[in-house]
Amino acid sequence: MDAQSTEAQSEFEAIVTEVVTQVRPYTMVPEGAVGFIVNAVKHIVDNNVEGDFVECGVWQGGCSAAMVLANLALQPAKQRLMHMFDSYEGLPPAKPEDGPLALLWQSSVNSPTYYDNCAASLELVQQNFATLGIAEQNIQFHKGWFDQTIPHFAQNNSDSKISLLRLDGDWYESTKVCLENLYPLVSEGGIVIIDDYYSWDGCALAVHEYLGLHKLSHRIITVSDVSSAYFVKRKHRIK
Ligand SMILES: C[S@@+](CC[C@H](N)C(=O)[O-])C[C@H]1O[C@@H](n2cnc3c(N)ncnc32)[C@H](O)[C@@H]1O
Repeated sequence: MDAQSTEAQSEFEAIVTEVVTQVRPYTMVPEGAVGFIVNAVKHIVDNNVEGDFVECGVWQGGCSAAMVLANLALQPAKQRLMHMFDSYEGLPPAKPEDGPLALLWQSSVNSPTYYDNCAASLELVQQNFATLGIAEQNIQFHKGWFDQTIPHFAQNNSDSKISLLRLDGDWYESTKVCLENLYPLVSEGGIVIIDDYYSWDGCALAVHEYLGLHKLSHRIITVSDVSSAYFVKRKHRIK
């Protein structure tokens, strides 16, 4: 590595550290996975992948904020729309296809990882964004259950493009409706992050079903801390 690229690398690492630290209070996602979001934004910027950012399942907004802050640091002249889909009142009931661990988690209301069934109000998320200094002009909050909001969005935005799609809705149905409606909008070379691929059976099932049904050969890649997974939308292997 020459001196210039070493300097660029350490500048990038400083951005990762800064973003991870800033959003830490507003996400339950581990640091490695938040750092991966910054890397995903860099991939999108470096490869000129067109499209908005989308997160389905935002809780207190930390991962969505990481996308916005990473883009501000890496490409300040080109702001992208950030779409944030959530009920803003927590998870729907888990079903048998989500697996026994999901059913157990949702019934364990006194567990330290229950987080009030992952409920966080829209007002709280807006307050968190204000605390982080993120202006709301490029942010679109979509409040409601995914089976209503996401097909509605896809039907009304069929010409839109998505560069980074982050799926964090935990359950089978939540993941399935997102893939069915939003995957077609993802640009070639765009990234789909599947936060719950290793956590919940229903999420992995929905991903495998969708890729199989549509004969998509995308390789599912594990994020380095094994907290989550992703794939790049490409028709064919290119190297
Ligand atoms: C694990 S939390 C997301 C964590 C978040 N990305 C973070 O950075 O900490 C899951 C979120 O998905 C939302 N969610 C799951 N299924 C949903 C559905 N079908 N409709 C609306 N929101 C849903 C919940 O309200 C919750 O905020």
